Amino acid sequence: MKTFSSIKETISYLEQQKIAKKSIGFVPTMGALHEGHLALMHRAKKENDLLVVSIFVNPVQFNSADDLKKYPRTPEEDTKKLESVHCDVLFAPDVKEMYPEEVTVQYDFDGLDRVMEGAFRPGHFNGVVVVVEKLLDIVRPHRAYFGEKDFQQLAIIKKLVKMKKITVEIVPCPIVREPDGLAMSSRNRLLSSEERKIAPFIYQTLQEAKRRRDHICVNPLRQMIINIFESNEHFKLEYFDIVDDKTLRPVNAWNDKVGTVACVAVWLGSVRLIDNIRII
Ligand code: PAJ
Repeated sequence: MKTFSSIKETISYLEQQKIAKKSIGFVPTMGALHEGHLALMHRAKKENDLLVVSIFVNPVQFNSADDLKKYPRTPEEDTKKLESVHCDVLFAPDVKEMYPEEVTVQYDFDGLDRVMEGAFRPGHFNGVVVVVEKLLDIVRPHRAYFGEKDFQQLAIIKKLVKMKKITVEIVPCPIVREPDGLAMSSRNRLLSSEERKIAPFIYQTLQEAKRRRDHICVNPLRQMIINIFESNEHFKLEYFDIVDDKTLRPVNAWNDKVGTVACVAVWLGSVRLIDNIRII
């Protein structure tokens, strides 16, 4: 595996690979790698000649200094995992390399960035898009792989690529879960062992929402699931919503022609967890 921290060297190495007609599959990450990340990498490796991974804990997408400080960093373990999936190139820049100047650009995503995560984490998606646009410009991959775990992030990145006419195929990948249903996340390492035992309640409740879909209208179901989260003393619900998978706006009636996803964000102690389930 080749490792670069310099943008210039990465561009120059990948240029040579493109001249040699190698297709490039790219998986951007913030490290603290787990099986969810590795599933994206396996797929990218299978579908392309070269697997390029980036690890960069992107400060401009954190809306709390404390959250940025607490974010897990496990560089040695990450390197071993990257070798196990036969990663060809790791791009791991530092903050100065990515942001020599202050970031001032402001994007507008037609409201996609103002609901759910966007409403509770102001500036978060602006920061995600700043880094993803920059990474895509450096790596210029044929395909880039993103997890449905971050459903809203994926919708916004698809929109970015369309708006800016970036020539890359965005490949959505299914959520990878622990055997007990908890969606894998770098943040799961921050849970205490007690909290870890309680955490599967999130996915169990999302499954309950899916099961009830044939028996109850959308609005009462939404309220019922909110009540279930709110009556569990271990969790602090930030939002639960049932939304159109393209506009991310709440749906008010079931319609088999409209892709529909239930999304949730909760606090378990001091850890914020998100998850979602496709309903239609
Ligand atoms: P990070 O949280 O490290 O996630 C990197 C990629 O892995 C994202 O596309 C995310 O959706 C995917 N992923 C995480 N957990 C997953 C799971 N359990 N199943 C399937 N995919 C999963 O998302 C980011 O980093 C950043 O915002 C980034 C896009 C790198 C920009 O900084």
